[in-house]
Amino acid sequence: MTALRDIRKQFLGFFETNDHRIEKSSPLVPDNDPTLLFTNAGMVQFKNLFTGAETPKFPRAVTSQKCVRAGGKHSDLDNVGYTARHHTFFEMLGNFSFGDYFKDDAIKYAWDLLTKDFGLSKDKLLITVYHTDDEARAIWKKVAGVSDSQIISIATSDNFWAMGDTGPCGPCSEIFYDHGDKIPGGPPGSPDEDGDRFIEIWNLVFMQYEKFSGGKQTELPKPSIDTGMGLERVAAILQGVHNNYDIDLFKNLIAASVEESNVKAQGEAMFSHRVIADHLRAASFLIADGVSPSKEGRGYVLRRIMRRAMRHAHILGTPEPLMHRLVPALVTEMGDAFGELKRAQENIETTMLEEEERFRKTLGRGTALLDSATANLKDGDTLSGNVAFKLYDTYGFPLDLTQDALRSKGIDVDVDGYEAAMKIQKDTARAHWSGSGDAGADALWLGLREQFGPTEFTGYERLTGESQILAIIKEGQLVSEAGPDEAVQLLTKSTPFYAESGGQAGDKGSAVFEDGQAVITDVKKFVGDLHVHMVTLARGHIKQGGNVRLHVDPSNRRTTMSNHSATHLVHEALRRVLGTHVTQKGQMVDGERIRFDFSHGKGVTAEELSQIETQVNQVILDNSEATTKLMAPDAAIEAGRWHCSAKNTAMKFAFSLLAMCQTEKIILIRSNYAGGHM
Ligand code: SER
Repeated sequence: MTALRDIRKQFLGFFETNDHRIEKSSPLVPDNDPTLLFTNAGMVQFKNLFTGAETPKFPRAVTSQKCVRAGGKHSDLDNVGYTARHHTFFEMLGNFSFGDYFKDDAIKYAWDLLTKDFGLSKDKLLITVYHTDDEARAIWKKVAGVSDSQIISIATSDNFWAMGDTGPCGPCSEIFYDHGDKIPGGPPGSPDEDGDRFIEIWNLVFMQYEKFSGGKQTELPKPSIDTGMGLERVAAILQGVHNNYDIDLFKNLIAASVEESNVKAQGEAMFSHRVIADHLRAASFLIADGVSPSKEGRGYVLRRIMRRAMRHAHILGTPEPLMHRLVPALVTEMGDAFGELKRAQENIETTMLEEEERFRKTLGRGTALLDSATANLKDGDTLSGNVAFKLYDTYGFPLDLTQDALRSKGIDVDVDGYEAAMKIQKDTARAHWSGSGDAGADALWLGLREQFGPTEFTGYERLTGESQILAIIKEGQLVSEAGPDEAVQLLTKSTPFYAESGGQAGDKGSAVFEDGQAVITDVKKFVGDLHVHMVTLARGHIKQGGNVRLHVDPSNRRTTMSNHSATHLVHEALRRVLGTHVTQKGQMVDGERIRFDFSHGKGVTAEELSQIETQVNQVILDNSEATTKLMAPDAAIEAGRWHCSAKNTAMKFAFSLLAMCQTEKIILIRSNYAGGHM
């Protein structure tokens, strides 16, 4: 039997031999697309190469990309564990050509790998092509020597892949594997295609067009290739099993779950073990990539995944939290291919444990409420949306967890009622909020943002700047001018003033205008990118439309920057002294002090505190000169963390040091850091 890890290696090696560069999997939180919840395909990291926004440094690449598909509107979370192939986390194997080879080679590579290297019988394989793609059909016949009947034309979007409404797109060809007539299901395009017999294993996308808004479509000057094959699916085939959960990796994770829970993987418990094994992977990889369970966004999707697994641990009857005890087994299985898993192991375990402890506190009471609310319901009935909402709001049961809990009884949840209850709660909260006047103020800032666009920030290069006064706001109202001793908010076209963001305080300073002067006590960001100055007039009058000269207090800026740099020293020292599980949870930095919040399961001892202080002060006193080095992420980690790092890598290493130390202060001299540094 070929182990999953060897299949991954074989795939990467095959394409490396064919001049592809092996690229690392990109993180699950895409750094090139804020609109995407999680990386969900191999091509995500190469998006800009396909669109032409970036020039490729190499013409061919191959990856095994970690992907998460969960959390969208039509997420399959509910099915995971109960079907043979649904996963929240999976690896997508892919080869890519950026304007280099096209259909001929892509088809040849895929066919050779599957039939020669992987040794699959060509009689077991079926091909689909887009119905107008005669070229692909002809190549398949020539390269693979398959008959016309093994090539099925598909006219739907299943065989025409597009990145979005606009952008590169093209027909695709999919390769299916026939698991045999013992399993029900028909070939692709037939009425029974949703059965489990014919399984899609590889999708070859021939990117050859570009779509524009308005429907226009042109030929790409350099057609490209993007392919995606599910590692778990191909492993199932090569290991001679039908269900993905029977491949070596899942068998080992399930064995760990059996051992730690002391419950055999039989009957209903089998499904619980599968849910646990699947969610262990998704949750651990998400945590390793910096996601924490929370009430919204990505963090909420993570929480839903974690809690679903934790409920299944509870169903198995484990008296103590289970998930964190399974992390070592996952690291054994996947830590070699994904070093981030090893590095984050402690953090993953702590996060799992904390979340499971938190959830267990309400799980019992929530389950009791669910049991009593469904006591008189039978198969085909519906649970009220209000109860589902109460389970969510009071007991932390995500909606899909409630649905999952009721699936075995055949009871549905009134999702519309649940959403209505959620809306009432949000509206009520908003009504309270508007009572404070903030809602009106928000509309005012949104209007100003629409009228004037974002504030241009000039403070990286200069500490002073001349600008125009766009708006003066007093007590939430626009005013045309303000006079001595009045406290107002000032919006200017551009500003050198840094606005409070990411736990770093805004700049302080002064404003000079035609006949007067004002003190700027703080600057805040409103509606994302308006820098709004909090101003008290000392003398004279400021008028809307007038000019103003803005001066940042340089010493406050400098000490704030130094303190910001110090947070990175503190973070690193915490990791060195307390362990690499320490993650930053928040910070507040101004010119006087820093506050650094971090996670560590217990209190810090006096001795540890003294070691942390010594380490931080040692670096400061070393007075070492900062060098800005662009390092590959792994090299930076290997080389230790007292490092400077430039854009991109800095994004990934928020605790990198970007500082020059002078006498007793750490002074930031240069930063490409895209986050909180100036
Ligand atoms: N982008 C295609 C997919 O996701 C091929 O990788 O299926």
